[in-house]
Amino acid sequence: MTRAYDEAYRRSLEDPEGFWGDLAADIDWSKPWDRVLDDDNPPFYRWFDGAETNTCFNAVDRHVDAGRGDQRALIYDSPITGVIKTWTFAELKDAVARMAGVLKANGVEKGDRVLIYMPAVPQAVIAMLACARLGAIHSVVFGGFAASEVAKRLDDATPKLVLTATCGIEPGRIVAYMPILNEAFELATHQPEKVIVLQREQQAEELKAGRDLDWDDELAKAEPADCVTVKATDPLYILYTSGTTGKPKGVVRDNGGHMVAMKWSMKAVYDLDPGDVWWAASDIGWVVGHSYIVYAPLLHGCATILFEGKPVGTPDAGVFWRVISQHGVKALFTAPTAFRAIKRDDPDGTFVGQYDLSKFVTLFLAGERADPDTIQWAERILDRPVIDHWWQTETGWAMAANCLGLGRFPVKYGSPTKPVPGYAIDILDDGGHKAKTGEIGAICVKLPLPPSGLPTLWNNDQGLIDAYMADFPGYYKTGDAGMIDEDGYIYIMSRTDDLINVAGHRLSTGGMEEVLSKHQDVAECAVVGVADKLKGHVPVGFMVLKAGVNRPDAEIVKEVVQMVRDEIGPVASFKSATVVDRLPKTRSGKILRKTMRQIADGEDVPVPPTIDDPAILGEITEALKPLGYAKD
Ligand code: COA
Ligand code: AMP
Repeated sequence: MTRAYDEAYRRSLEDPEGFWGDLAADIDWSKPWDRVLDDDNPPFYRWFDGAETNTCFNAVDRHVDAGRGDQRALIYDSPITGVIKTWTFAELKDAVARMAGVLKANGVEKGDRVLIYMPAVPQAVIAMLACARLGAIHSVVFGGFAASEVAKRLDDATPKLVLTATCGIEPGRIVAYMPILNEAFELATHQPEKVIVLQREQQAEELKAGRDLDWDDELAKAEPADCVTVKATDPLYILYTSGTTGKPKGVVRDNGGHMVAMKWSMKAVYDLDPGDVWWAASDIGWVVGHSYIVYAPLLHGCATILFEGKPVGTPDAGVFWRVISQHGVKALFTAPTAFRAIKRDDPDGTFVGQYDLSKFVTLFLAGERADPDTIQWAERILDRPVIDHWWQTETGWAMAANCLGLGRFPVKYGSPTKPVPGYAIDILDDGGHKAKTGEIGAICVKLPLPPSGLPTLWNNDQGLIDAYMADFPGYYKTGDAGMIDEDGYIYIMSRTDDLINVAGHRLSTGGMEEVLSKHQDVAECAVVGVADKLKGHVPVGFMVLKAGVNRPDAEIVKEVVQMVRDEIGPVASFKSATVVDRLPKTRSGKILRKTMRQIADGEDVPVPPTIDDPAILGEITEALKPLGYAKD
């Protein structure tokens, strides 16, 4: 069967400038581009070179000008606080313009960075759009990170201003943000001039005189600010993501290419139309939140839901169905782990029957491997298509998907289907040669990446080359390993580096090892991601202690668990560690982390030919059993 997909895919690779140039007509530009693609300086490609525009205008004002001002734009649904509030496009425009006025009055100009450390509250979405309105570059930091992670971002992005709230709300606990932020200021070299603080009723805070300003007071006196024209190639935001060390990478997103890809993806990938209600159940601190809570749905003229809650426990495993039914959601996008949590609490899906899901058409999953069990369970209880798709912070949108707006392909469980138009994907072996059909290798994308792909890392052009382009010249290395089958379906099998996915959150085990090795008693350590029924993976630490240490192991384990929580944050879910006499290594001294992971997962582990002493495998097995890992 011929699908629109085939033609779109072919043209996107054979004539990328024609393909993306045509799609760019869906965006308002104040000045058209000189060239669709500037490819003068590979691997630094620029889309829509010479064009001028404004992302906030296209996401908000444009719909008001087109007569859609009364349509719902933003729906805040917070089961954790019991609040539901809706903004039309006209109301959103007023709120964003006023917030932009606050930023402007506090000295924020085009190109300045603004760090946003906030929970899933509507003011955070409004603040992101307000930055875009002024051409300021936002950098949102996820609330589950600790002070030192915030400090790293302060020092790298050097923001002029910080926007925060007094607290986030997790089930059973209030997460006070100000102590974390204050500690981050102490740790950071760069000191932003001001902090604008949203006082939430759940947690009042004393403001620091001379530094902190009250959000509502500032809003009350602000004049609305207009959109500032920016270049298509100017940065819209920086989003830090885990790399292989403790130093996060500042992924830069531009304005023009990003908008073109976001807008098109809403129809091509998700099959949504303007006016539809869309819900990405993620957090604004992650790329899914940036792309699919904020920018893409608004650019497409959809209503977007901002959900402050959890898939279970707020108040129960029926909350997703309640939200879908109450707001008339057509498509939901979340991480498989959310569905594993719902399945755990409501295995028969009994809550589904209590709600009217007649408007609900499709469930999309991404962020981590979607295990066939979870997909099939979701299909069964929902009786609707469940679409797995694969993407990364670096791309900002899907690299592989069953593009519903371009003609659906049959689902193959375990595969996110085919490359999205714009992505020329090859599987490469260690020597950089194309792997045969069905052979596993490094998943790479031929350069240039399509629009929205990262143009660079913040202040670190060389970092872009080193991290992504150096190993396979002419390609972007995704860091994932996988294969392509005889029908062109892609399978994502594992990472080729030490990143792990914990409850859909991307984390660096290398970063955790850096924390463990700071403990006074630890001589050597390794952290590996082991399989977890709920979260996909969780980190487990192995420590060899310094000679002469004779404190109880349990005490040291407790301390390192606390250190990871304090230095990286609760989101790391680092709860298990064990003390061993030695780590398995190759004869040349490389730690065999993959072997440790396989033992923990209860796999039959072949003795690696390069191992220095095979007896160590038994020792690791025994150390893992008390933690509930490894086979008997
Ligand atoms: N601010 C502060 N702390 C946070 C946080 C935030 N925004 N988000 C999570 N945390 C904390 C949690 O409270 C938890 O702390 P604890 O160790 O004190 O219990 C810790 O970080 C780990 O959180 P999480 O991994 O989310 O586990 P959980 O057991 O609290 O919840 C799920 C499990 C499956 C319900 C939850 O992970 C979830 O809703 N996942 C949806 C997937 C998702 O949104 N992915 C984003 C990418 S698409
Ligand atoms: P992040 O940058 O946080 O979005 O994480 C990106 C990583 O998550 C990818 O490189 C993959 O390792 C993993 N990932 C995302 N989506 C999928 C998917 N559908 N299937 C398998 N892995 C995925």
